[in-house]
Amino acid sequence: MASNSHTVRLIWKNGNVDTINVPSGITILEAAISAGCIVPFECRWGSCAKCTGHLIKGNIIHTSPPRVLRKEHLIKNYVLLCVAEPTSDCSIEIGSHLKDSLSAISKNLPHTISSTSSTSSAFGWKSQRKNS
Ligand code: FES
Repeated sequence: MASNSHTVRLIWKNGNVDTINVPSGITILEAAISAGCIVPFECRWGSCAKCTGHLIKGNIIHTSPPRVLRKEHLIKNYVLLCVAEPTSDCSIEIGSHLKDSLSAISKNLPHTISSTSSTSSAFGWKSQRKNS
């Protein structure tokens, strides 16, 4: 039987850790805000990257398209907390510095992904990011 909630450890750059409980059907960002965590965010719909996290352990699913993430970001386990729900207990690095990491990855791309490229089921927003 599936659990109705998961424990998510939010790990800050300075090593501090906020541990939150995320009920089923609630995004990690919503749960963090409800728990009183001061996490960066702005749009709340996957387009600004302010809530970027880096999944270290566990599984999440993006329940809406993580619009600002490219395939290369998803491969490297970057997630958007505003559209992500955990499907297991997780550890996620968070902080505003991660938005810069996305830019660095994009700048180092040998090519630009064409608008006709679609993210396959392996990398799309419905897939789980795994890193155990
Ligand atoms: S708050 Fe803007 S992408 Fe999550």
